[in-house]
Amino acid sequence: MRASLPSGVFWVLAPLWLLPPCLAHTPPPSPQDVALLAGTCVTCHGPGGQPPAGSPDRSIPALRGQSSAALLARLQAFQAGQVAGATVMPRLMQGYDAAQLQALAEWFARLGQEAP
Ligand code: HEC
Repeated sequence: MRASLPSGVFWVLAPLWLLPPCLAHTPPPSPQDVALLAGTCVTCHGPGGQPPAGSPDRSIPALRGQSSAALLARLQAFQAGQVAGATVMPRLMQGYDAAQLQALAEWFARLGQEAP
């Protein structure tokens, strides 16, 4: 006996089949969007990616002056849960996709290239 699905099922499932390629091509966020995303980060990491001078909390590292490759590697490691002893970053990184991590890494790397 040959099992065959009712033809209606095909039309229900067909759009799902087309979904993965669409998701894989998430467009990179616009510069305005990246600035908004980075706003979340500077709450802790300080305006300009550097905690204010004299800030008592040394547990939050400065992002300023790091390369985009180094920052991206850190963000990806947090997201994958590979940073031992990390506190907030692994949780926070669950809310960002690959294109957003890349854009954030580039945004903070550019800060280090400007005059302080
Ligand atoms: C609630 C405060 C907080 C927020 C918000 C936050 N961070 Fe962090 N960040 C930390 C802390 C604390 C660490 C040290 C690792 C840990 O404990 O998770 C850290 C570590 C990092 C590091 C590793 C730096 C190094 O030199 O080791 C990077 C990169 C980073 N954060 C990027 C970001 C980005 C990008 C955002 C915004 C999407 C962000 N952080 C938002 C608190 C925060």
